[in-house]
Amino acid sequence: MLPVFELEDYLLRHEARATVSLCASGLETVGLGRLLSLADAETLALWQGLVLEYSQPQGFLPLREEIAGQYETVSAEQVCVFAGAAEAIICTLQGLLRPTDHAVVVVPCYQSLESIPASLCETTRVSLDAANGWTLNLEVIEAALRPNTRLIVINFPNNPTGTIPERAILLDLVELARSRNIYLFSDEVYRGMEVNPADRLPALVDVYERGISIGSFSKLYGLPGLRIGWAAAREPEVIRAAIGKKHYLSICPNSASELLALMALRAQDAIVPLGMDLMRRNLHEMTRFFERYSKLFHWQEPQGGCLGFPELKTNLPAEQFTQQLLESEGVLVLPSHLYGLPDTHLRVSYGKASMPEALSRLERFTQRSYRAGLSV
Ligand SMILES: Cc1ncc(COP(=O)(O)O)c(C=O)c1O
Repeated sequence: MLPVFELEDYLLRHEARATVSLCASGLETVGLGRLLSLADAETLALWQGLVLEYSQPQGFLPLREEIAGQYETVSAEQVCVFAGAAEAIICTLQGLLRPTDHAVVVVPCYQSLESIPASLCETTRVSLDAANGWTLNLEVIEAALRPNTRLIVINFPNNPTGTIPERAILLDLVELARSRNIYLFSDEVYRGMEVNPADRLPALVDVYERGISIGSFSKLYGLPGLRIGWAAAREPEVIRAAIGKKHYLSICPNSASELLALMALRAQDAIVPLGMDLMRRNLHEMTRFFERYSKLFHWQEPQGGCLGFPELKTNLPAEQFTQQLLESEGVLVLPSHLYGLPDTHLRVSYGKASMPEALSRLERFTQRSYRAGLSV
């Protein structure tokens, strides 16, 4: 059975009390009008003639072709479209893992990456090295492997730390997995959102025949309301098994959303740079804020993905900090216990146009608390 999804449950309980979010996980949203104005003639004609029938379970072929074109080694047959990365994760993992298997999950991570494997087979959590800037330690991963390890789960740029390993380390991980015939399940929903483009890692599906890459329109393209994500895998069996699980969930993608996603991909040169420019400007402001209050927070600048994970240097538990901030300023940030970690960190974000307002309210709160001696 699946446990409570702590982070989504927390958002459900507290989001309505917030007037501004400082923890949202994607770039600024793109409106329908703007998307339609960017559409090419072919997609616009498809949109106008769209019949809302059940669609192809694997996803609309032109969309799969466009997604496959984002990779170096992938064809449309090796892509399956899902209702968000959320559904791609559950279907692909359910298709792959059997009760006799063992999985290794690199944490911290988005909870489904950890809870779904744990609901299917024995799972070992291997932590990024917090004391060393959330680095990926291959020796720890290797030590966790067993003869029946079928899959290793990773997520870079990482939610929530924003860390990205060096390319050579990722390729060493691929060699380790290859030498034991282990799948590498790679949540790449923040790929393309590197602060420094030189930090971008190759897609796992491109560098490893047993690599599975998960993508989404929710983050880089600012379109979470579409609920469109995908899985790309070179082994036909991986895609077939995932579709088998999808028959019990969404059955087929929302065809209106698929067309809008196709428009977004074809217009990515107009959409993505604006979102990324805003993200980089916001990150600069956020870093300056944490430098001003370096007595209260330890800030490790994220390398990508619009999320950051400052540590509270105070003895105030993160849950209390987030609740007081929400009460007094209407700003929502997330406490680290939602990631199964000690309650010492905050998840913040810097992708949205509302970030400067949220940050100035956080600053007001911080100054007040600091003066009142609450958080020192
Ligand atoms: C790492 C990660 N994977 C998957 C998802 C789910 O994304 P989607 O909106 O595509 O379902 C999220 C959402 O925040 C995420 O952060």
